[in-house]
Amino acid sequence: MTKLLYITAHPFDELVSNSMAGGKAFIESYQENHPKDEVKHIDLFEEYIPLIDKDVLTGWGKAANGESLTKEEQTKIDRLSDILEEFLSADKYVFVTPMWNLSFPPVVKAYIDAVCVAGKTFKYTSEGAVGLLTDKKALHIQSRGGYYAEGPGADIEMGDRYLRTILTFLGVPSYTTLAIEGHNAEPHKAEEIKIAGIQEAKELGKTF
Ligand SMILES: Cc1cc2nc3c(=O)[nH]c(=O)nc-3n(C[C@H](O)[C@H](O)[C@H](O)COP(=O)(O)O)c2cc1C
Repeated sequence: MTKLLYITAHPFDELVSNSMAGGKAFIESYQENHPKDEVKHIDLFEEYIPLIDKDVLTGWGKAANGESLTKEEQTKIDRLSDILEEFLSADKYVFVTPMWNLSFPPVVKAYIDAVCVAGKTFKYTSEGAVGLLTDKKALHIQSRGGYYAEGPGADIEMGDRYLRTILTFLGVPSYTTLAIEGHNAEPHKAEEIKIAGIQEAKELGKTF
């Protein structure tokens, strides 16, 4: 059975957030058009996503040497491992994030750090690192106040480009971006921009 992870990184829902409105339109359309697929929602603002900190680095070192870990080290490492295993078990990834300071909320980076693990999602070879997620696909839905999909904004946008780069590094061969953007730059077009984004999200739900 195909499994899709619906990974959202927003403190609010679709009534407040354009990103979440796009995400909701996508996921409803996806479920309607792929009724047999399993969809798992991961709400990054609700779930515990440990940062790679001193406990984690020390714990990994101890585990490699067969030494016993503190409770804190074990808890964080077990949770990171669970996040990784769930990521590996999925076929498709949908990230929903708002643009914050040219990127995405920091919990997205924490999540990515949890799933970038040598020997699991990529491996080192004599030719360099090779991604192992070669049978997956990804979609990123993001709302932005200004314009970044093309023009001068494209050079300074760092959230979508980071996600694309890191997932490509992990071997994911297909990555699509849905940017719902420009409503702060052109407030008179805000409703039109949102409606077009939702429509595009619904279409992607049929084909993704
Ligand atoms: C903390 C924060 C940082 C933001 N940074 C940017 C930015 O760098 N560029 C931009 O165009 N808009 C920025 N915005 C505006 C949001 O991208 C815009 O409101 C977008 O719609 C957010 O997505 P949402 O509707 O899903 O919340 C920022 C908003 C917040 C709250």
